Amino acid sequence: MSGTAPGAPSPEGLTAPVVIAVDGPAAAGKGTLARRLAAELGLPYLDTGLLYRAVARRVLLGGGSPTDPAVAEAAARALEPEDLQRGDLRGPDVDQGASQVAAQPAVRAALLEFQRGFAARNGAVMDGRDIGTVVCPDARVKLFVTASAEARAHRRWLERQGRGESVPLEEVAAEMAVRDARDAARDVAPMRPAEDAVLLDTTGLDAEAAFGAAWLLVQARLGV
Ligand code: DC
Repeated sequence: MSGTAPGAPSPEGLTAPVVIAVDGPAAAGKGTLARRLAAELGLPYLDTGLLYRAVARRVLLGGGSPTDPAVAEAAARALEPEDLQRGDLRGPDVDQGASQVAAQPAVRAALLEFQRGFAARNGAVMDGRDIGTVVCPDARVKLFVTASAEARAHRRWLERQGRGESVPLEEVAAEMAVRDARDAARDVAPMRPAEDAVLLDTTGLDAEAAFGAAWLLVQARLGV
C-alpha cells in the first residue's frame, strides 16, 4: 500500500486533483478512515464537521443561540484558522450547536467556497455529511460510511468515557439520534448518500478492517 501518485493522469487523460468524499452519520468511523486514506494516498485531509463545530463554539462564546440565523451567519463569516485549533470543539454543547448552525442555508453558503477551494488546490480526502452530494459532486470516490445506531452510540460513549466524562450510554444514544435526525431532515444539503456513493457499514468492523474494506473500494475506483 503506497501513495501511488493519485494526481497522475488517469487512463482517460484527466488531470483533475483526486477528491475522495467520506460522508455519513456521527461516530460511523468517518474521521479515522478519512485520515488514514489521506495518509496512504498523500492527499490533504479536511474534517468539514470541524468548521461547523467552530462556528457553533463562536456563537456560544458570544452568548448567542446556534439557532439564530443572523448570529450563526456572522460567526461563519468571521471564522479564522485558529478557531479550528481550539481544544473545546468536541463537547455535547458543540455537538448539538454544530448541527443547529449547519441547518442554516447562510452558514452553509459561507463555508462552501472554503471547502471547494481546499479540494481544488491539491485534491483531498474530506469527511462530512454533504461532500459527495453538494461540496464535491464530482469527487472521484464517494463513500457513505454507516454503522448501526447502537454501535455508533457505544463508540461515542467509549470516547467520552476516555475523556473522563461519566455519562449514561442511553443519554449518548439519545443525543446522537436527535443530531442525526436533524442532519438528515434539514432542507439544505441534508445528510444522504450520493447516488454514486458506495455504502460501507462499519458495524462490527474495527478501524483496521474498515480501512481494509475502504481501501479496496478506493483502489478499484482510482485504479491504483
Ligand atoms: O462530523 P461532525 O460530527 O464533527 O459534524 C458536526 C455537525 O456538523 C454535524 O452534526 C452536522 C454538521 N456537518 C454538516 O452539516 N456538514 C458537513 N459536511 C459536516 C458536518
